[in-house]
Amino acid sequence: MNRLCRPVRMHIASVGVSKFCFLFSLAFCGLLLLLIPALQPPARQVDLPQPRPQVRPAQAGPSHRVRVPGVSLHAVETDSATELSRSSAGRTEGTRDDIHSPKRGMDSKRGAAPGRFSGSRSRDPLDFKDIFIAVKTTRKYHKSRLELLIQTWVSRAKEQTYIFTDGEDKELQMRTRVNLINTNCSAAHTRQALCCKMSVEYDKFIESQKKWFCHVDDDNYVILPSLLGLLSSYHHSQDVYLGRPSLDHPIEAAERVKSDGSVSVKFWFATGGAGFCISRGLALKMSPWASLGNFISTAEKIRLPDDCTIGYIIEALLEVTLTHTHLFHSHLENLQKLPTDTVLEQVTLSFGGFENRRNVVSIVGGFSLADDPTRFKTVHCLLYPDTNWCPKLEHSHIN
Ligand SMILES: *[C@@H]1O[C@H](CO)[C@@H](O)[C@H](O)[C@H]1NC(C)=O
Repeated sequence: MNRLCRPVRMHIASVGVSKFCFLFSLAFCGLLLLLIPALQPPARQVDLPQPRPQVRPAQAGPSHRVRVPGVSLHAVETDSATELSRSSAGRTEGTRDDIHSPKRGMDSKRGAAPGRFSGSRSRDPLDFKDIFIAVKTTRKYHKSRLELLIQTWVSRAKEQTYIFTDGEDKELQMRTRVNLINTNCSAAHTRQALCCKMSVEYDKFIESQKKWFCHVDDDNYVILPSLLGLLSSYHHSQDVYLGRPSLDHPIEAAERVKSDGSVSVKFWFATGGAGFCISRGLALKMSPWASLGNFISTAEKIRLPDDCTIGYIIEALLEVTLTHTHLFHSHLENLQKLPTDTVLEQVTLSFGGFENRRNVVSIVGGFSLADDPTRFKTVHCLLYPDTNWCPKLEHSHIN
């Protein structure tokens, strides 16, 4: 229509040619306008009623682990409880609202049009390859920790897992064909070294074009179907910051980025040891404070560790709230308390460090505690019984 009308108008303005041509084109445009609504409804009516029954079963697939019956009931409580703890800052971390419903969280908090994402017609299903999983490790843990991850969950996600370390290990890389990235950061467990690695992780994610950034530590087991199910409930273009706070109250820090440090800011952050995820839409907004080394200077200004700095950029600077979820687990919590029948529904697991080797998830399977002190092999064999090193005979004895 524009094409038709614009040249005619220009013609009139400049040369002033026949009024008939002008009137004719006006009438033609008018006719087109009348025809458009007349033509559209039949086309819509044909495909509208159909999608529902067709799309539902396809969608239930990846997220069935997370969607437990009764989840929406809990979700209402979770959300209001989260809001409550935000204002009062006094609630102890989740005792009963273990299941977090991401969809509810988004619809109520992000104000997304419910029809658009829950109606599910326009939502393109999230693919595994759209997730970028960063594993932070250090040279001295390549043997004791990294090898176990590569043998277990990383083996099922080699394309999208990127391991960030601080030393060369050509032998490991050749043998296992994982994405091993030498950050050239210091191997010291200092704030600066950790922030240096996070900075490289962020830049590599942006470069990757993937839709979701997830960070985990080298003592985390990632339950991939649960991760995919959780992230599928959101859209990567929304502002999504998902994780588990390690404290039951927001952290307070002197504001040295927006002001001179005389005022303080309160914000929540997801503990890095349990893993957290950020949507690409949000990650792009973090760029002024996170990209190309800016993350290190931001962390230096507020003098906080890497995961706190992420929380600071998102909550304090961008004013996007952390979506609290209890599906992520760090070694700081009592992992034995996690109900056995919910272990495989979690997104990340962890195990106690050298100081507390007994802090592991309680799960029964093909390996004894002596053969599998972290329980990661047991979890892996329950998830992927077809794995060649998983015990076959035990199958009928598992309860
Ligand atoms: C680390 O240093 C090596 C050698 O100088 C270089 O090739 C590599 O790109 C560096 N890594 C990063 C993440 O900058």
